[in-house]
Amino acid sequence: MSSVGRLTIVLLAALLIRAPLARASEPMHFYARAANGLALTPPMGWNSWNHFGCNVSAALIEREARAMVSSGMKAAGYRYVIIDDCWQGTRDANGTIRPDPKRFPHGMKVVADYVHSLGLKFGIYSDAGAQTCQGRPGSRGHEYQDALTYARWGVDYLKYDWCNTGGLRPRAAYATMADALRASGRPIVFSLCDWGVRKPWRWGAAAGGNLWRTTHDITDAWSGVHGFSLGLLNILDEQVGLARYAGPGHWNDPDMLEIGNGGMSDAEYRAQFSLWAILAAPLIAGNDLAHMDAATRAILTNREVIAVDQDRLGIEGQPVYRDGEAEIWARPLTGGRQAVVLLNRGTHTLSIRLKWSELGLPGYLPLRLRDLWRHKTLPVATRGMTFKVPPTSAVMLTETPLRPARSG
Ligand code: GLA
Repeated sequence: MSSVGRLTIVLLAALLIRAPLARASEPMHFYARAANGLALTPPMGWNSWNHFGCNVSAALIEREARAMVSSGMKAAGYRYVIIDDCWQGTRDANGTIRPDPKRFPHGMKVVADYVHSLGLKFGIYSDAGAQTCQGRPGSRGHEYQDALTYARWGVDYLKYDWCNTGGLRPRAAYATMADALRASGRPIVFSLCDWGVRKPWRWGAAAGGNLWRTTHDITDAWSGVHGFSLGLLNILDEQVGLARYAGPGHWNDPDMLEIGNGGMSDAEYRAQFSLWAILAAPLIAGNDLAHMDAATRAILTNREVIAVDQDRLGIEGQPVYRDGEAEIWARPLTGGRQAVVLLNRGTHTLSIRLKWSELGLPGYLPLRLRDLWRHKTLPVATRGMTFKVPPTSAVMLTETPLRPARSG
């Protein structure tokens, strides 16, 4: 067969294999660059920013990495230990970035090696501008050099921020860094952080991102706008309508977890974990893992909730019902099941009725529900079930039909 003929067959085969991956409403180019094969389920890990801010050091990162193992978080699926802003020192005469010598006296590779020695993965932070949000050197003009440096250190994950980017266009700037990471030869998860300003869900995957922030920063509060930062409900509300942009390898990122940071109740933290799981969000803990209490650990390692987040269909959930302060969110799972969150946004206990019709199921159907926080399978119900949901909290369930739902 001629080489043209062979090429045609290869191209046709590639198209046939690829076609079912794309949902009808999405253009093919959507997948064109999200091809590093990473983050097939939402990344799980820990990041220094929410709890420690600029106060990062080798000792801290190694301590938190150890705690990720000893707390059971590694066993529950957490992998990435990510240093956020403020690790940077200056560039050397060749322009190579060096970590702050006081905070990282033995360099960064030693820290990465240590994290790897625990069976974990290592993440780092930079910025598309000349300086990071905290005024440290950014990667502008040094993208390929920095990507190579990260690869040499053993970086597995890069969060790439958007401060001080005057004159840059996000899609192009992020694509440049994605190209640089690819050229480095090391598989590196690429986390875009333009705070949702330029609707990165529309172009983030095409620009080579595995995840992209959809909003300004989260703060450790149930609701409200606090300067640049948003409470949990305000972040949640901005996720509505974005589900179709997420899937294996390319995720919406409603920012990191605040669980265990002390500004919310345990019930509110359970709500964050439930909602992030229904959203197929990255689960990046943001507390001090080395000093967390039993309640915090129990929330972060709830395997039933994590299993929802990590469901390999990778379909992000959406709201299916809203009445005042009561909301129901649902997410399809493998095996014809669904996950459901009943959310009480307000300050009074509510009775929220889950009707099968809201889940797109026949009005009458024997269904088994499991409560993922009480770890209890509930009695079979046929039309719906009513739950008392305390103020500012959530109930999380999975449903499994007892027999296949028939249409019509
Ligand atoms: C921005 C990001 C945060 C954090 C800080 C660090 O605000 O959105 O997540 O990385 O910068 O300076």
